[in-house]
Amino acid sequence: MWKSPRQLAEQHKGQPRKASAMSYVLQFPLVLCWSLAALAAPGDGSVSVTNIFSPVSTPAEAIYANALLVILICAGIFLIVGGLLAYTIFRFRRRPADAGREPPQVYGSSQIELAWTVVPILIVFVLILVSARAIYDVQGAVPPPDALNVTVVGHQWWWEIRYPDLGIVTANELHVPVSESSRPRPTFLKLESADVAHSFWVPQLAGKTDLIPNRTNRMWIEPKQPGTYLGNCAEYCGTQHAHMLLRVIAHPPGEFEQWVAAQQRPPVEDSQARIGREVFFSTSCVNCHTINGTQARGTFGPDLTHLMSRETLASGAVPNTPDTLRAWIRDPQTLKEGSLMPNMQLTDAELDHIIAYLLTLK
Ligand code: CUA
Repeated sequence: MWKSPRQLAEQHKGQPRKASAMSYVLQFPLVLCWSLAALAAPGDGSVSVTNIFSPVSTPAEAIYANALLVILICAGIFLIVGGLLAYTIFRFRRRPADAGREPPQVYGSSQIELAWTVVPILIVFVLILVSARAIYDVQGAVPPPDALNVTVVGHQWWWEIRYPDLGIVTANELHVPVSESSRPRPTFLKLESADVAHSFWVPQLAGKTDLIPNRTNRMWIEPKQPGTYLGNCAEYCGTQHAHMLLRVIAHPPGEFEQWVAAQQRPPVEDSQARIGREVFFSTSCVNCHTINGTQARGTFGPDLTHLMSRETLASGAVPNTPDTLRAWIRDPQTLKEGSLMPNMQLTDAELDHIIAYLLTLK
């Protein structure tokens, strides 16, 4: 069962807060196993853990290839240095016959010093060349005519996602088409911020790029397999930085067109939810949220036009269900303390009506 941060704090009350060095040592094998399991996790279209070692998108593949090369070279250096050190410690260890004798005193060797200066310079040079090529390949990419353009705006603490060419605005869940070799369709992102610095990071799709106020950064992704890819804000941006989660949903092309068509439709008016609609429009909800085709035009909070088409609420903090939606509106501060959405002090009856209306926003 899902628990709010407050419930968790309640549950852990009275338990010692500070982890001892021993508990870290004991946790290490667990963390290692988890990491290895993550390494083996395939990008098979299901929701997968965030993992830089399982790239499914062109920029992430370039970074992964570079990372492997660096790890291999460093592992080689570690084995050579560690091996020589172990050999020396064993081979030249103190023996009984050495008692009272001084070992031979050696003062430098030009050949060895030259070797350990020149070889690392060559290694660093190779790494610079390989990295420069990967950086150029990623940053110099020219969008093909078929590319999808999306603007992502970072807010405290959620992601605004705009499709300027399609007239769609949504939040926290970026839907993109899969790029096929017969029809490459990368998604080019314009990254902006409404307040402080954030950072867009979906490890399986690309490296991190910051969203900086008064500046536009760019990056691109090109998922090649359908699936949901998780990410998060990777730059500390305030209290709820950890609850600024991202999902990228990569659809097969036909399915993506269906998603676009559904998002472009205005919400269907449901006479059952008429009272809820009236309650909603009589509160100050409309000052912060937009619902297409209505007088709700606020832009401070997420666009609610197709709220119920999203998998999560509060930027990935909880799954989007009628129960969590109700808990969220009753008091956003319980689910996400510090959230900029205030507690509207609604009565139970008002809440019921508003939920009934919001549930029609599919
Ligand atoms: Cu946004 Cu951290």
